[in-house]
Amino acid sequence: MRKILTTSALPYANGSIHLGHLVEYIQTDIWVRYQRLAGNEVHYICADDTHGTPVMLRAEKEGITPEELVDKVHKEHSQDFHDFNISFDNFYSTNSDENKMLSESMYESLKENKKIEIKEIEQFFDEQKNMFLPDRFIKGTCPKCNAKDQYGDSCEVCGTTYNPTDLIDAYSVLSGEKPVRRKTDHYFFKLSECSDFLEQWTQSDTLQTEASNKLQEWFSAGLNDWDISRDAPYFGFEIPGAPGKYFYVWLDAPIGYMASFMNYAKNNELSYDDFWKKGSDAELIHFIGKDILYFHALFWPATLNFSDHRTPSKIFAHGFLTVNGEKMSKSRGTFITARSYIECLKNPEYLRYYYFSKLNDSMEDIDLNLDDFIAKVNSDLVGKLVNIPSRTSGFISKFFNNMIMSSESFQTTEAKNLHGGILKIKDEVMKLFDQRQFSKASRLLISHVESVNEYVNNKEPWVLAKNESNHNEKSALHEICSASLMSFRLLSIYLSPVLPELTGKVAEFFNEEDFLSFDRLINEPISINKYEHLLKRIEQNDIDLMIKKNTQI
Ligand code: MSP
Ligand code: ZN
Repeated sequence: MRKILTTSALPYANGSIHLGHLVEYIQTDIWVRYQRLAGNEVHYICADDTHGTPVMLRAEKEGITPEELVDKVHKEHSQDFHDFNISFDNFYSTNSDENKMLSESMYESLKENKKIEIKEIEQFFDEQKNMFLPDRFIKGTCPKCNAKDQYGDSCEVCGTTYNPTDLIDAYSVLSGEKPVRRKTDHYFFKLSECSDFLEQWTQSDTLQTEASNKLQEWFSAGLNDWDISRDAPYFGFEIPGAPGKYFYVWLDAPIGYMASFMNYAKNNELSYDDFWKKGSDAELIHFIGKDILYFHALFWPATLNFSDHRTPSKIFAHGFLTVNGEKMSKSRGTFITARSYIECLKNPEYLRYYYFSKLNDSMEDIDLNLDDFIAKVNSDLVGKLVNIPSRTSGFISKFFNNMIMSSESFQTTEAKNLHGGILKIKDEVMKLFDQRQFSKASRLLISHVESVNEYVNNKEPWVLAKNESNHNEKSALHEICSASLMSFRLLSIYLSPVLPELTGKVAEFFNEEDFLSFDRLINEPISINKYEHLLKRIEQNDIDLMIKKNTQI
């Protein structure tokens, strides 16, 4: 049995969950549910990422404290994740006692290991707001192409990257004033001294090939020390022994994985050290988006290693979501919030299934094409999967007192092969889930769903049912419907990590408690309940309404 601690990246507490985020939470959740089904010990941890300037400024704008904002957003995020059936074992917050304690102790340990250095730097300062300005809060004219109102780090018109101090006529986004340059002491983590360790670590099969190639590029460019402090005012943890200096949000954010686990372990009689101390034999697996690879594949393993912790076993990075082939956009209404999806479409499993059918183990972007989404979900799930019981269960109720034949009593080779063939793909299905080859898994499973439908088409149980008095035809009818339903049941067990709600209802239909273990594949039920329609089609109108709700002019 594997012992696995799995995380999804911690969503920022300054905004709503949208369908882009959900690529990651759904991908991780399917994988985690699969591991549980396979009988492994797996703990799924997340939290809100609460610190930093954007949260501080948004709270100020709303006239509340950052803590109040963070609480409000935590409730919203928790509800969103709940409504998409994301099965976190703990969804915590980085603004917690555990995280403060762990951040301080990691910092102390890095300091003892001589990995912290203080350097004087020069930064833009807004005299009216009385604060240093992060790059995103400075705008000005691009030094290369002269485009106006460009951000402090890069030009959206010509794509050049630069330092905020290179901007022409720089101004503060907060006050509109011209910022002044001011000197200040910052705390740095000496990443430049970690390249030997990191180059070795990246060769240890922890990363996808694309990701380790990216890292090679960063290594050849040379690693810079990492600025881990910010000056007050800042919403975060003050650095011990450094009044007015705070940990930069990206220092304490990944420590939030540990803090969330610590909080969960305490309530569940698990040992924190078993999972986090150097030499731990548990797997530590992070699911992330490709945009935060630098943080997870460089800063994070380096800070862990030089503070006597274990390092991640795997980092699984995924690509970005596009909608209808383009970047999500507020003006096109494709920046779709999780909440609006639930309000309009009601059922999270359409999206869970669609992402399942698109995802693989690479960092390629995935596209949510809304026409394809409607067509695929309606065809695969409603037209094919749910079609099986809706065509066959009525006969079992009407003629056989709701009793199904066990697969062992099947007489014909066809029935045996249909059911046996689906039982036989178990190892292949397991491998595809484990390796995050979800798109392949979906094709394999749907091809078997199609075989069952073809079998029903060929056997025409409705013709046999007309000839009620013929004993032979009656037992053939019994076998056809039982083989179809038993096959449907196996396919539902395989799909249970993707469609927990739907397959939960299927379990009920077979009078079973749940489909939470692969042992269920061979423990067969004997009777069914009255079939009630399991899933309705996605309607174009509901999609249109959702787009309308998200359109901002
Ligand atoms: N707070 C950081 C993560 C800290 S982890 C210690 C962060 N937050 S985020 O809210 O911006 O993103 C959370 C996750 O969602 C990230 O892994 C990010 O890559 C992913 N996604 C956000 N937008 C996305 C898309 N449009 N498409 C796919 N994934 C996206 O980053
Ligand atoms: Zn430019």
